Amino acid sequence: MSSITLRKPIGFVGKFNRVLKNNKSTPKVLATLAGGIVAGTAIYVYSNNNNTPNKNNHLGKILASNAGAVAVLNKEKNFKDYQQVYNAIAEKVRDQDDADDGAGRYGLLTRLAWHSSGTYDKNTNTGGSYNGSMIYSPESTDGENAGLEVARDFLVEFHYLFPWLSRGDLWTLGGVVAVQECGGPKIPWRPGRKDLEDRKKVPENGNLPDASRDADYVRKVFTRLGFDERETVALIGAHCLGKCHTDRSGYDGPWGPSFNMFTNDFYVRLLQNWHVRKWDGKKQYEDDETSSFMMLPTDYALKEDSKFLKYVKMYAEDQDLFFKDFSKAFSALLEKGIEYPKDVKPFEFKTLDEQED
Ligand code: HEM
Repeated sequence: MSSITLRKPIGFVGKFNRVLKNNKSTPKVLATLAGGIVAGTAIYVYSNNNNTPNKNNHLGKILASNAGAVAVLNKEKNFKDYQQVYNAIAEKVRDQDDADDGAGRYGLLTRLAWHSSGTYDKNTNTGGSYNGSMIYSPESTDGENAGLEVARDFLVEFHYLFPWLSRGDLWTLGGVVAVQECGGPKIPWRPGRKDLEDRKKVPENGNLPDASRDADYVRKVFTRLGFDERETVALIGAHCLGKCHTDRSGYDGPWGPSFNMFTNDFYVRLLQNWHVRKWDGKKQYEDDETSSFMMLPTDYALKEDSKFLKYVKMYAEDQDLFFKDFSKAFSALLEKGIEYPKDVKPFEFKTLDEQED
């Protein structure tokens, strides 16, 4: 069991993140991608998406809905190539530690990875990160995605530096970099997403969550994504990072003072006392103690619902457990709707710090 003890005042942020290692897990043996047979399988399935689907078998289901969302593996590239991309993104993130009033780019890139994946619907097996479809309307103009053009612009140079990488891979890898570089857990990640080829696969708006709603709504959204209550609470703990912007979502402020460090602070704070903020804006909560921090109605709903509350308390008590659960759930989120041949093992990237040691 551990909990965060170090607190940094707002404004005095960034540079110390890299020496504050909350993640104590020893780096595991680096995984490698399975080669030719796997890639061959992927391409075979991908190229067969004109077949009449047979809904009674697994493959039939894939072809009927998220047809073609099968990982296409690049046989020319290996772990080292992807670690190189990771490093390039991480160095730019490090250079912009002071951006957004000290929040850096950690929250922004985590949110891009989440929103590019969070359109997934398990009932229709549509949406998700595979197609990198957020540059197209209506997804690009979804109000819930307001501000994410900043994140996509931040990453755009890497399309030129690494033209073999798809948008879906780049955006999800950006989220992995963000979480790991600010002290979060390792996020196992696999490549193989393919840029949109079928315009009809741009998801309709309405699948990304509306922050003004209650616990039942949150449960419904995350059930549609294929997550249970525990995973839902673990994922929303990413609100330890970054902040809300009045010119993006209409909400205002960070959830806590250590908003550029990945910690279990979100849960610790949620259990403290809050009141509805009096202001000329959307309904949000403000902490009794300092009136400096915020909670969205959907965050607060986790405290009001006994089934969610159980996990809020659990993660507030035990940061290691939160890290473990978040890692698993976030990794799964980034792969929703993507079919991987069974033997494709995920990569576990080293942080910049680990490589400097
Ligand atoms: C009920 C579910 C959720 C709702 C309603 C919600 C809503 C929001 C809203 C309104 C913002 C403010 C955006 C802005 O003004 O810039 C935000 C920010 C953020 N969200 Fe969520 N969110 C949810 C779940 C998640 C999940 C599952 C993750 C990641 C796993 C996540 C990660 C973040 C991060 C890191 C930020 C900060 C962005 C920044 O600093 O620019 N959120 N969220």
